[in-house]
Amino acid sequence: MEKLLISGGKPLEGEVRISGAKNSVLPILAASLLTNEDVIIGNVPHLQDVTTTISLLTEMGATLSIDEKMKVCINAASIDSLYAPYEMVKTMRASILVLGPLLAHFGEAKVSLPGGCAIGSRPVNLHIEGLRAMGANIKVVDGYIVAKAKKLRGAKINFPTATVTGTENIMMAGVLATGKTVIKNAAKEPEIIDLANCLRLMGAKIDGDGSSVITIEGVKNLKGCNYDVLPDRIETATFLVAAAITNGDLTLTHTRPDTIKVIINKLKKAGANIAVKNDNINIKVNKKLDAVNIVTNPYPDFPTDMQAQFIALNSISRGKSKVVESVFENRFMHVQELVRMGADIEINGNTAIIKGVKKLTGAPVMATDLRASASLILAGMVAEGETIVDRIYHIDRGYECIEEKLTKLGASIKRLPQ
Ligand code: EPU
Repeated sequence: MEKLLISGGKPLEGEVRISGAKNSVLPILAASLLTNEDVIIGNVPHLQDVTTTISLLTEMGATLSIDEKMKVCINAASIDSLYAPYEMVKTMRASILVLGPLLAHFGEAKVSLPGGCAIGSRPVNLHIEGLRAMGANIKVVDGYIVAKAKKLRGAKINFPTATVTGTENIMMAGVLATGKTVIKNAAKEPEIIDLANCLRLMGAKIDGDGSSVITIEGVKNLKGCNYDVLPDRIETATFLVAAAITNGDLTLTHTRPDTIKVIINKLKKAGANIAVKNDNINIKVNKKLDAVNIVTNPYPDFPTDMQAQFIALNSISRGKSKVVESVFENRFMHVQELVRMGADIEINGNTAIIKGVKKLTGAPVMATDLRASASLILAGMVAEGETIVDRIYHIDRGYECIEEKLTKLGASIKRLPQ
């Protein structure tokens, strides 16, 4: 397995362009299953999860082309298999996003249940219950969701827990259903709005995205479109923390500062100097920051996808801090690895208590999921000596050219072959 070798102690300086959002491009790729026309997607990040999704779509029979501007064009008219196998779904849970569009456009789907995950149990019961309320006949057979519906019908769906991909699946089912679908307690993440913007370009009638009630009026069919994906707010925030932890001076370009207000405010509270201008953010840090308390919650609150990175930052900041993980039940796997690097962190249920230490020291550590990998890389960049991060394939799922981007900014980071 490939590893990353990081020599710590170099401040990050310069300019970095933020890539398209992983959690937007995945549902938008799935949305291409809703029409027989070309769906052309721009600002597509080069990520393993994108490759997996594209493989899934082409194995189902979709045709794919990529033009000279790296725009991805998908055409689902030639789909001849409505099947997402376990081998693919187990590597990427977001494969569940094909369920709603397949059912809505083709009337059936067989999609593997995702199974366990390093950050929590992550069931998909709410996706299934929502589609059942829309008239789908769904059985779970041999680990697969087997779903059929001649024609989905609009329904009122009240999610007991706001779910991002669940909201996206129901939105994509609702756009081709008969009548009106109302999603209550819908997820409000910017990626939901991005998907809705793309679906509207395809001819869908959606209202209320970005709020907790989304209304969808079904249409007979959808057309193709040409759509650029939103910049990645979690990549943006991770680079801000990279500058903060290394006492750097970075300018992030092609981003959307309005989608990470809560992160900017936390970093300002910690003592970072941050200036926002249009789609650029500059961060300057030239002192030890103050540790900040965090409670993760759905958007617009503090994102769970930034919890691991802030624990790394807090571990070498001044003072004691408390980080509460409220979205997933098991998202502290990075903590024991950070402790091996000298961090002082105690876990009690869903709460981490962090006492800032003077320095971290390099060590061999193991990445357990995407954001945990980012946290260990950040720690490695500030640690004394060398850190080797193992199981680095997790990082390639969600950060485009991470070591190239960081090296260009002055970090010493190298990929070691298997
Ligand atoms: N939940 C249920 N039942 C369901 C669905 C969700 O109980 O049917 C629970 C989950 O167990 C969790 C909560 O609801 O406790 C919220 O989970 P959600 O469904 O919103 O998560 P997701 O849609 O599976 C997306 C992102 C994650 C991100 C979460 C939370 C994508 C492709 N994935 O996951 O991204 O952490 O929302 O914001 O959009 C990442 O990028 O590293 C990542 C894990």
